[in-house]
Amino acid sequence: MKKFYITTPIYYPSGNWHIGHCYTTVICDALARFHKLMGEDVYFLTGTDEHGQKVEKEATKRGVTPRGFIDPLVGRLQDMWRLLDIGYDRFIRTTDEDHIRCVQKVYQKLYDSGDIYKAEYEGYYCTPCEAFWTEAQLKNGKCPDCGRDVSLQKEESYFFRLSKYAPRILKLYEDNPAFLQPKSRVNEMVNNFLKAGLNDFSVSRTTVKWGVPLPFDEKHTAYVWIDALLNYISALGYGTDGDERYKKYWPADLHLVGKEIVRFHAIVWPAILMALGEPLPKQIYGHGWLLIGGEKLSKSKENARPELTDPYELVKRYGADAVRYYLLREIPFGSDGEYTGERFLGRINADLANDLGNLVSRTTAMITQNFDSLPACGEIEPLDREIEEMTDALFPRVKDAMDRLNAPEALEHIFALVGRANKYIDETQPWLLAKDPGKKERLGTVLYHLAEVCRVSAILLKPFLTKAPAFILESFSYPADVGFGEAKFGSLRAGAQVRKLPPLFPRYDIRKELSEVEKLLASAKAEPSKPPKAEISEKAEISIDDFSKIELKVGEVIACEKVQKSEKLLHETVRVGEEVRSVVSGIAKYYTPEEMVGKRVVLVTNLKPVKLCGVLSEGMILCAEDGEGNLSLLSPEKAVESGAKIR
Ligand code: ME8
Ligand code: MG
Repeated sequence: MKKFYITTPIYYPSGNWHIGHCYTTVICDALARFHKLMGEDVYFLTGTDEHGQKVEKEATKRGVTPRGFIDPLVGRLQDMWRLLDIGYDRFIRTTDEDHIRCVQKVYQKLYDSGDIYKAEYEGYYCTPCEAFWTEAQLKNGKCPDCGRDVSLQKEESYFFRLSKYAPRILKLYEDNPAFLQPKSRVNEMVNNFLKAGLNDFSVSRTTVKWGVPLPFDEKHTAYVWIDALLNYISALGYGTDGDERYKKYWPADLHLVGKEIVRFHAIVWPAILMALGEPLPKQIYGHGWLLIGGEKLSKSKENARPELTDPYELVKRYGADAVRYYLLREIPFGSDGEYTGERFLGRINADLANDLGNLVSRTTAMITQNFDSLPACGEIEPLDREIEEMTDALFPRVKDAMDRLNAPEALEHIFALVGRANKYIDETQPWLLAKDPGKKERLGTVLYHLAEVCRVSAILLKPFLTKAPAFILESFSYPADVGFGEAKFGSLRAGAQVRKLPPLFPRYDIRKELSEVEKLLASAKAEPSKPPKAEISEKAEISIDDFSKIELKVGEVIACEKVQKSEKLLHETVRVGEEVRSVVSGIAKYYTPEEMVGKRVVLVTNLKPVKLCGVLSEGMILCAEDGEGNLSLLSPEKAVESGAKIR
């Protein structure tokens, strides 16, 4: 069986993740899913890069241990990947035991072979980038990569003989143009680094304690970049007795990385592998950046623009499919792309809501309105033939694009078919056919063709979108777990049950939506106001009419979770009779989400809906509070149905 080993870089546990960070991983996930659906044996690796000065400093600043600082952030990163449906095979942490042992083994091996030697190091260090620079490389005295301050550092250090490998790396690029892609990155590496010759490279620190101690000199810890790069082989058990996975999956088929870290992957990494005598990865691809206002999107630079860049918020608001689709479709592969709310919403509206959503809802609606089940395909006309041919041609086109890693192009092909099918509806006018009893067979043929386009598009969308394809396939009673072998015209059987699908994606009023987002961001920025202390006060008398304006009902909490970024708020999903509501309450200090599920509560149901910390609240759960910090939910004393009125 063909294998496919794909990796993302391992992420710094910064906690400041934005939509740009999701880019590498979402593309890797789509590629991994694509190759799995091709029937290949895929191994998809991601994880976290946890050692080094940056983490050490942040932890010290907060008065916690490095692990105390990192662990919650790693959990949050994993939450982000769960939200985006990232299906990795291993999440490696550089603090994992097996990784640490591997790093030590590699250092020992390179020390023994003479590729690592001891000397004195003097250079400029950029802590945020964890990178050394020579004076000549600095730009106006600052880090040439990020423009921040650097500090002069001088210490005893172990060096790796990188200089020795420069000619072999140049030759590698020449002999194997596929090794580093896109081509422009090769020029960057050659012109900026290799042409001038490479210096030996400092690979240990004595000033950083938070790192892997070198086995031959415990005063030193491994330089984080070497530590980090080794994750790609430590994850497979390299250098251990249990290295079956290494034997099976190495060399990597693809290391996908952002362009700012290409030099580590395309120069340092192959040199280390050469020194170890191990095979080189087949390809390094350096993708472009998501920009905001022409600059690399980064949390620290997040300008005053009202763009929603928080992945957690984005997924909560628009769904994983929308966020994945935008990232995979909008940015030309290999280039930078400007991120704006308009473009994000524009893509969802045009492609997902209008093209795909419309095709599927119109098709399933017309079938269920006119037939009991999927109609048979009768005699076909040239127009139908065209649809069949285009449907059959889709898989090879998508595969060709994905073989070049080009997800935007693959999606363009899929949406060309979807668009063609929408035009076919206008051409065949099934609503007119439906009015004429003599045209029933023709109507069936047209709808059969539309159903097949929906089915085949859904199968081919599976690497990219993780929710909609299954909905589409299930609405035609077609198994959702099929591979690309089924992406051919004609698999649906007449008589299959068809279910009408509601619109899969909402259509946004872009202006309105953006102004809401702007408000949301402004309120999140504003200092959270202190809630007034509970106090017993004399309030003005009200009449029974005043009281009857308040609608109170019994609700049942069917789901509950903590609101991200808030210590006080819980987000409950409450069933009130037939209705389901989203409610936010400030009770996280008193009740856990688990405790809340199943509780019957008293809910004010006619409060004007508001957003709290970005989460919609359509009601208020009533509690008793005694001013001593005791809080208790109100519940009906006897079992009553949810939805029962309270008077
Ligand atoms: O570099 N647009 O980790 P990281 C597109 N730990 N991609 C972006 C982006 C943007 N605006 N901002 C970040 C590291 N990324 C090292 C890797 S690997 C042995 C060690 C991407 O957390 C970035 O290019 O800074 C990279 O691919 C990923 O997010 C993680 O970056
Ligand atoms: Mg970075």
